[in-house]
Amino acid sequence: GDNTIFKGKTVLITAGPTYEAIDPVRFIGNHSSGKMGFSLAEEAAKRGAKVILVSGPSSQVIHSPNIELHKVVSAKEMLDKVFEFYENADIAIASAAVADYAPKEVAREKIKKNDENLTIELVKNPDILKTMGEKKTRQFLVGFALETQNEEENAKGKLEKKNLDMIVLNSLRDPGAGFKNDTNKIRIFTKTERKEFDLKSKEDVAKDILNFVEDQLLK
Ligand code: PMT
Repeated sequence: GDNTIFKGKTVLITAGPTYEAIDPVRFIGNHSSGKMGFSLAEEAAKRGAKVILVSGPSSQVIHSPNIELHKVVSAKEMLDKVFEFYENADIAIASAAVADYAPKEVAREKIKKNDENLTIELVKNPDILKTMGEKKTRQFLVGFALETQNEEENAKGKLEKKNLDMIVLNSLRDPGAGFKNDTNKIRIFTKTERKEFDLKSKEDVAKDILNFVEDQLLK
């Protein structure tokens, strides 16, 4: 519609995986395709928002001229790009699957195979969403939680610890939910509310998420 709360708002969205280099040919990554984040970006743009989409490596493409796409590779690059835009964002949604750890050192040359096992030391990556929570001023901040067990408890823990206004839970125990699929099944939590949704296309899930945001902002 034309009269949405998103009209004229700046929405910052993270999407996709991050790749953490091991050497010039190898990386640590995950199964995120970027579909969930790109669907959110298109839906927010359709509702009249100016969208800043910061995405890790993904084959998804944007359609709306109201989306500004910034491609990054690693978590550190995603952090830097996000904070170029965070201060001016009205709404921020973190749907990226950011690697929690990265190799301590990136080998300058391709690591050669020998007869020994190989150990790669990993160090903690910055938590982009947690940093957004710490620096929150007027932004309405939405996180995701991708869980495989104790889903609701973990999601509520992240809502609290990362200083979020709302969190979207998807569980890999729900068939058709999470990575790669064109579908997702979500539960949304705020400090006081819980809402469960059916399995649907990621385009329709994006609508549910933005409808929920809109309801919160109208309160
Ligand atoms: O891309 P698709 O194939 O469509 O898949 C969509 C999805 C499954 C990736 C998406 O729906 C989703 O769940 N994204 C969050 C994945 C995730 O990493 O969840 P988490 O529970 O580990 O992280 C919690 C939150 O903190 C997330 O909002 C995440 O973006 C953020 N985070 C995590 C770690 C980190 N270093 N920085 C972060 O910003």
